[in-house]
Amino acid sequence: MYSRIVGTGSYLPAKVVTNFDLEKRMDTSDTWIRERTGIECRHIAADGESNVDMAEHASRAAIAAAGLQPGDIDLISYGTTTPDLVFPNAGALLQARLGNRGAPAFSLEAACSGFIYALAVADKFVRTGAARRALVVGSEVLSRITDQNDRSTAILFGDGAGAVILVPSEEPGIISTHLHADGHYQHLLYCTGGPAHGAAPGTMRSGDYIRMAGSEVFKLAVTLLGRVVDETLAANNLEQSAIDWLVPHQANLRIIQATARKLDLPMERVIVTVHNHGNTSTASVPLALDVGVRDGRVKRGDLLLLEALGGGLTWGSALVRF
Ligand code: ACO
Repeated sequence: MYSRIVGTGSYLPAKVVTNFDLEKRMDTSDTWIRERTGIECRHIAADGESNVDMAEHASRAAIAAAGLQPGDIDLISYGTTTPDLVFPNAGALLQARLGNRGAPAFSLEAACSGFIYALAVADKFVRTGAARRALVVGSEVLSRITDQNDRSTAILFGDGAGAVILVPSEEPGIISTHLHADGHYQHLLYCTGGPAHGAAPGTMRSGDYIRMAGSEVFKLAVTLLGRVVDETLAANNLEQSAIDWLVPHQANLRIIQATARKLDLPMERVIVTVHNHGNTSTASVPLALDVGVRDGRVKRGDLLLLEALGGGLTWGSALVRF
């Protein structure tokens, strides 16, 4: 038994912040940001717009795309690093919004790899028959934990949410998932602010924002994502040419290009949203997948490689027959 994705959905806040907007308030330039990251603009949640608000939009879209009702969902696996509250967990808050009762609902935190982790967990539930209609969400308001005066991080991050629905299937589906972490790299990328701080814009103490050693993380991302791509192909006895679409975490266009080279994939076979979305952390992979599905590039039967790396460090991949 496998699990299979039967619906995708996503949501982006209305407010768009361009590189030119950032130029006006910090020592940076559109040229620097585009050349070093590929980012042109990012969406930022409105005051009062919460992580769960965005997740609800994305989830309803995914549930509708699957032809289901919210009450049909029997598992909520929700990746996020910026939950509204310490508890109740974001999954339970989302469940109440959806009017669903009784299904197990939890959130897990693995920074930018959170969606791959949440997908892997939900896949295990569906494969074993413990769930039959799983909602997997990645939602993030990174703008609330980013120092908007720090040019090394403020230019990178955006807000948004994405979701997929998994159901059981005799045909794959999620073929394999590969998860890793190495806590020894914790000092390279971390945030000491608590989740409750994230609920109220501007209330975080200045030292509590995201801290990142960008170029060290960059080098590790290229190496570790390359390695997990090899691992995924080897585990499934596949050649690089078998992959139809790379759906990567959208942290930096140069990291994405390096992973595509590793797969010998032309950039036309990579779903790239980083220019419009920035880095939305846990939300970036399901957002990119939904963009590719809804614009008709990703078709039923295509073989997809999803991958991400984030704070922890955590990283992972999923090989998916769509
Ligand atoms: N505008 C202009 N100049 C800048 C900016 C900016 N916004 N930011 C940094 N600079 C300067 C630096 O001060 C430095 O100047 P110096 O040479 O005079 O010292 C120079 O540009 C180069 O800085 P680097 O940090 O070496 O630039 P780099 O090319 O590495 O790009 C970046 C930085 C974009 C952050 C890149 O390192 C990166 O993408 N890292 C990986 C990010 C990532 O994948 N994170 C994981 C996921 S995030 C999560 O889990 C929450």
